[in-house]
Amino acid sequence: MRLGVNIDHVATLRQQRKGTFPDPLEAALVCERAGASSIVCHLREDRRHIQDDDVRRLKRAIHVPLNLEMSVAEEIVRAALSIRPSQVTLVPERRQELTTEGGLDVVRLTRRLRPLVAKFQDEGISVSLFVDPDGAQVDASRSAGARIVELHTGRYAQARTTASRERELNALIRAAEHAASLGLAVAAGHGLDYDNIEPITAIAPIEEVNIGFSIISRAVFVGLEQAVKEMVAHVVTPRPYAAAPA
Ligand code: PXP
Repeated sequence: MRLGVNIDHVATLRQQRKGTFPDPLEAALVCERAGASSIVCHLREDRRHIQDDDVRRLKRAIHVPLNLEMSVAEEIVRAALSIRPSQVTLVPERRQELTTEGGLDVVRLTRRLRPLVAKFQDEGISVSLFVDPDGAQVDASRSAGARIVELHTGRYAQARTTASRERELNALIRAAEHAASLGLAVAAGHGLDYDNIEPITAIAPIEEVNIGFSIISRAVFVGLEQAVKEMVAHVVTPRPYAAAPA
């Protein structure tokens, strides 16, 4: 399994003083050195953390693929097509949210997404759709032409009882197996941390996890390189495969 590290919150910290430090590019280079297989950032419409110039500088300087999370707003699509990251991950976006809440409603948006997905892919940019672990959303993602889905792990991460966590984990297993059976590559992310990552690594169809907040938070105490290395250790030594219960 691969680890994509989301560096948005390095920029969140910088934007507190609107200066140049800490620099998300410098952070990305440390993440690479520590074993991240891609760098993820989200160019939000409100430019709350990552700025257009950050994405340009990341694209120029990093050596691993750049995965740009983005909404489908026209202005952001134009920026992405001009910067040309290796991959875009299309996510829903609401102004007041603390972070991305819920997956993209691909079932409702299939017709709107189809030409957009095709446009990015024609430009050589891979497209992933960030969806809830729901069979209908996975089907719609395929129908929209995407070749990758990222399953939203937020409900799993937030489950407070053993029973609800098991239920959410099983939903992820079923959605991952379904996506793989349709020929889609499968990623997962949101709310994953050092304590809840292990069962996710046991889901064989999931090829990649994208993690931000927990890694950047741990970096406050142990440094970024160490925080990434610790997560890499979890992710590259997965637990035995858990098949979906009947
Ligand atoms: N994947 C996607 C599509 C996201 O939108 C986010 C949050 O920006 C993440 C992964 C990372 O989530 P977290 O910061 O909770 O690890």
